[in-house]
Amino acid sequence: MGAQAEKWVLMVTARTPTNIAVIKYWGKRDEKLILPINDSISVTLDPNHLCTTTTVSVSPSFVEDRMWLNGKEISLQGGRFQSCLREIRARANDVEDEKKGIKINKEDWQKLHLHIASYNNFPTAAGLASSAAGLACLVFSLAKLMNLKEDNSQLSAIARQGSGSACRSLYGGFVKWIMGKEENGSDSLAVQLADEKHWDELVIIIAVVSARQKETSSTSGMRDTVETSALIQHRAKEVVPKRIIEMENAIQNRDFASFARLACTDSNQFHAVCLDTYPPIFYMNDTSHRIISCVEKWNRAEETPQVAYTFDAGPNAVMITRDRKTAALLLQRLLYNFPPQPDTDLDSYVIGDKSILKDAGIKDMKDVETLVGPPETKGNIVGEKSKGDVSYFICTRPGGGPVVLSDETQALLDPLTGLPN
Ligand code: DP6
Repeated sequence: MGAQAEKWVLMVTARTPTNIAVIKYWGKRDEKLILPINDSISVTLDPNHLCTTTTVSVSPSFVEDRMWLNGKEISLQGGRFQSCLREIRARANDVEDEKKGIKINKEDWQKLHLHIASYNNFPTAAGLASSAAGLACLVFSLAKLMNLKEDNSQLSAIARQGSGSACRSLYGGFVKWIMGKEENGSDSLAVQLADEKHWDELVIIIAVVSARQKETSSTSGMRDTVETSALIQHRAKEVVPKRIIEMENAIQNRDFASFARLACTDSNQFHAVCLDTYPPIFYMNDTSHRIISCVEKWNRAEETPQVAYTFDAGPNAVMITRDRKTAALLLQRLLYNFPPQPDTDLDSYVIGDKSILKDAGIKDMKDVETLVGPPETKGNIVGEKSKGDVSYFICTRPGGGPVVLSDETQALLDPLTGLPN
C-alpha cells in the first residue's frame, strides 16, 4: 500500500438505471444463487428520471464495511450483500493512483474495508425496482473501484446474487436475463438485445399508485408461488419460452402491436400466478385495475394497441406507448380519470419529462379540470372517479446503462473522511 498509508481515501461514483420487465421473472430454482425458473426480458428506464447513484470508497483508515442508503446507515450483514462483496473481492486486481500516490495490491482488497453510500431518486421499495438499480449500482461501482476485468454480462451474474432483477440493470435498452442451465449459475446472466436508440420513439408513463412500502416482498412472494401454485409450472415451462422468442422478434422489428400484446398478457399472467399462490398474493389494487380498464378500452377502440401496461410486485402501472403523440393522448386520459387531490400543483403531479404535458396541451390545473372524457368511454369515467388515487405520474423513456460519474461533486461521500456528505 502507499507510503503515507492511513490517510488516503479512494472512491468511485456510478449511476445505474432501473428496469421494468415485460416478460417477468417470478420463481427461483436456487434461492441462494438466485437462479430463475424462466428467462425474462426488460426495458431499461431513463436514469435521468429513475436511477441509483452510489459512491464506493476504500481507505486503510476504515475499520469495517459500512453502507448508507438515502442518508441512513443500513446493515451490510445480509447474505445477499455479503455474496456480492465476496464475489467482487475475489476478482479484484491491482489498483494504482499515481496522482494520489496510492497503490493497492490485489491481495490487499481482502483486508481493506469499504464505505458505500447509495441514493435513489425515486421511492425505495414502492414497487419501482429500487433493489434492481441499487444492487446493480453497488456491483458496477465496486467493480470499477477494484479494477475488475469482467464485462457487464459477467458482472450481471454477480448482481444477480444481490437481487435477480438487478442483473438486467447492467445494460441500457432492451435486456434479456438468460436463466442458464449450470448448477453453479455461471451461465445465468444478462445480455443486451438492443440499445436504447434502437427503438427510441417509445415513451413510458408510470402511475405511482402508492408510495408506501409493499406488503409481500418479491423474494417471499415468489417462494410461496413456487411452493403452492400449479399454474407457475405451466407458465415457466410452456408459456414463457414461446413468449421470449416472440418478444425478441417484436423488439427486433419494432413491432409495437406484438410488443404490447406480449407485455400486457405476461403481466396479467404474473398476477394470475400470484392469485394462484396459497394464501393468494394481491399486488394490484382497485386503481391498478381501473388503469388496465382505461388502457384496454382505448386499445380496443383504436383496433391496434396504442399502449402496453405492466405491473410488478406492487400497484404501480408502467405504461409504454408507441410514440410521443400517443403518450400525450394517454396522459390526457390518465389525468381525466385520475385527477390529483385538491391543492396539488401540476409540477409535482407529473414529473420526469414534462414536455409530454406540453404536447398534451396541459399548462396548469385548470387545463386538467376542463379535460373532457375520451371518446371510447363516451364521456364516462373508468369506474369511480376519486381524486388522489394516483400519487403522481412519471414521464420517461427507455434509457442507457450504468456509467461512472467522473465529476467529483456528484460523490455521496466526503473525499477526505469517506463519510456521507
Ligand atoms: C415482479 O428481483 O425483486 O419485479 O431476486 O428475490 O431479489 P429477488 O426478487 P426481485 O423480483 C422481481 C420480480 C418482478 C419481475 C421482474 O422484475 O422480472
